Amino acid sequence: MIHGSCGVFILTFPGYNLPMQEKTTPEQEIVTLVSKLSEYSHKYYVLGRPEVTDLEYDRLYDRLVQLEKAHPKLVLSYSPTQRVGSDLSSELEEGSHSLPVLSLDKAYSPEEILTWAEKTAKNSQEDLVLTLEEKLDGASIVLYYENGILDRALTRGNGLVGNVVTANVKTISKVPLKLPEPLTIAVRGEIFMRKSEFERVNRTLAEPYSNPRNLAAGTLRRVVSSEVAKVPLDIFVYEGFFDPPMESYREVRSKLQSLGFPLSTRFEAFSTGVVQPGTFPVSTLAQHLEKARIDRPGLDYEIDGLVMKVDRLRVRDRLGLTGHHPRWAVAFKFEAPQGETLVESIDLQVGRTGRVTPVARVKPVVVGGAQIANVTLHNQDYIEALELGVGDRVTISRRGDVIPAVDGVVEKLSDHVWRMGTACPVCQTLLVKNGAHHFCPNPLCPEQVRGRLNFFTAKDQMDLGGLGPETMEVLISRGLVKDVPDLFTCDFSLLEGVPGFGEKKISALKEGVDKARTRDFPVVLASLGIPELGKKISELLVEHGVDSWDNLVSLVKNPSALLSIPGIGDKTVETLSKEVLRPETLEMVEKLKLAGLHFQIQGSVGPVSREWDGQTWCVTGSFVDFNPRSKAEQEIKARGARVVSAVSGATTHLLAGEGAGSKLTKAQSLGIQIITEEIFMKLLERTPQ
Ligand code: IVH
Repeated sequence: MIHGSCGVFILTFPGYNLPMQEKTTPEQEIVTLVSKLSEYSHKYYVLGRPEVTDLEYDRLYDRLVQLEKAHPKLVLSYSPTQRVGSDLSSELEEGSHSLPVLSLDKAYSPEEILTWAEKTAKNSQEDLVLTLEEKLDGASIVLYYENGILDRALTRGNGLVGNVVTANVKTISKVPLKLPEPLTIAVRGEIFMRKSEFERVNRTLAEPYSNPRNLAAGTLRRVVSSEVAKVPLDIFVYEGFFDPPMESYREVRSKLQSLGFPLSTRFEAFSTGVVQPGTFPVSTLAQHLEKARIDRPGLDYEIDGLVMKVDRLRVRDRLGLTGHHPRWAVAFKFEAPQGETLVESIDLQVGRTGRVTPVARVKPVVVGGAQIANVTLHNQDYIEALELGVGDRVTISRRGDVIPAVDGVVEKLSDHVWRMGTACPVCQTLLVKNGAHHFCPNPLCPEQVRGRLNFFTAKDQMDLGGLGPETMEVLISRGLVKDVPDLFTCDFSLLEGVPGFGEKKISALKEGVDKARTRDFPVVLASLGIPELGKKISELLVEHGVDSWDNLVSLVKNPSALLSIPGIGDKTVETLSKEVLRPETLEMVEKLKLAGLHFQIQGSVGPVSREWDGQTWCVTGSFVDFNPRSKAEQEIKARGARVVSAVSGATTHLLAGEGAGSKLTKAQSLGIQIITEEIFMKLLERTPQ
């Protein structure tokens, strides 16, 4: 039926209950049509419960198209007609994320998940609810809604900046273009293609894709959105960022569901209590993991693992982020990425502790996105277990996605199992075996000295300015430096005239050495390269009253006292007792003492309070009242916070003094709290140790 009124035609349909008053404006009609059609579409696509016939839907839709054509200015950005995309081709634009889009930490076995859960429980110090859900294997997407309207859809990109793919995402029927509430939120999800659809679509392509993920990701990035509309993409969402935040992830999920988003269905929550060894329901977890592995082939979408997350959002905040992943989630992956290649040779590397490690040089192969050419083989036992020889074809995996490992020989092309020689490949000293490893027992072995020197001067240790490995090579080859203490007696002026050693470089080296003399005892201690005596243990010792080297020497002679320090275990005690008292170590420390390094803590270290527990501070720039800046660091640590040398997603505060540079810019971009010296003074007054 068509009514004419003031030149505007209004169509009426059965089931379409617009109050047909003469005064209905095109604008009102468009709004009503859009809302009806969106509701029908949600019921059809997301809930799987169609409310109207296809015919009725199409009639409403056609009417909307007609009205929009007549009034192009009235087209709503969330109108269902916008889902068909446009023929306009444009390069993909870039857009900034309003929150860093991080990746996930990974684990490959129930045991690794258990370790993660124990660590997480320890750090959060309260009852934990952990959730478990599917890890979808598609293309990551972030949907930004402004006042309830889908404003932008961005790919993950580099985590800070992604590609704007809004028009393409609008073609996906399940993505709500308008929410039932005017919320400003960000929603993270995964765009994918159903396996059944993939097979159908892929058959028609001139250049077929190897898997649904690649086809989905490729389609999402097409520049002509009307082409995207022809490919059946799908979406599941998993995280929502609300302001004010919700209490728990479970709440976020049900809110997302009530807003009309499709969530993957398999979801479990574990209430674990404070996880202590033995209390984590590892057998239940293992059952879930196994079930998912079994169910996986039967699902119509690809999953590549499960994701475990901390439920309470407050705890998530407390746990924080690293630059790469949040500490509140871990992905259990079904399989580690693997590649196959040939072993071309096996070399021996001598480390700074004398440990001799066999390394396989392989024909370069890309595994999990990184090119691999060198793979550690750990020790002789590992090689024998693999029955590996030079020339064999092997599988390489990147467990934890970082360190590549040889998993096995797939084709034995050599006629031998490789065996390590009996002498150090560098200084020819006879090797000794300790446990599974071989060691070069000569502390003056040039390779060990080089390792020790480079470790000592490294940026995150003593940080000797311009003294990197290349400069070190020059110092060693000219006989100017034979071991760590020589750095402090070396006459750098002797380098005048050597290419690359201008006046500036030489004075930078001298300055670096002078600065090293001001470094605090815990830093000096951790830089000596004594096994088991890294930064963590050094700080732990100092916190428990070990305020000088002499103090440490007497402590290691009394193993039970050392063992009573929480966080120090049997292995550390055993190693420290041996390593600290080695004559070479004692001699080196005596020389460094003479060179003026701090082997005693500066100022007093009172008992540490817990006021700032869980905070991570970075200090940069120079200060009036905290000079050197380690004074400020001591104040921070004394209140229970951690002090780090670089700004990352895990940093909670940046204390910025005069001349603060790139660290300040980075902290600002990450939204980290910036503290000036003035505010810092006030905070110290408010929170006495
Ligand atoms: S949560 C900040 N949950 O896996 C962490 N991610 O390998 C937010 N992914 O970049 C991610 N399924 O694209 C989360 N259920 C799920 C997921 C999931 C798939 C993707 C996501 C992430 C990648 C990490």
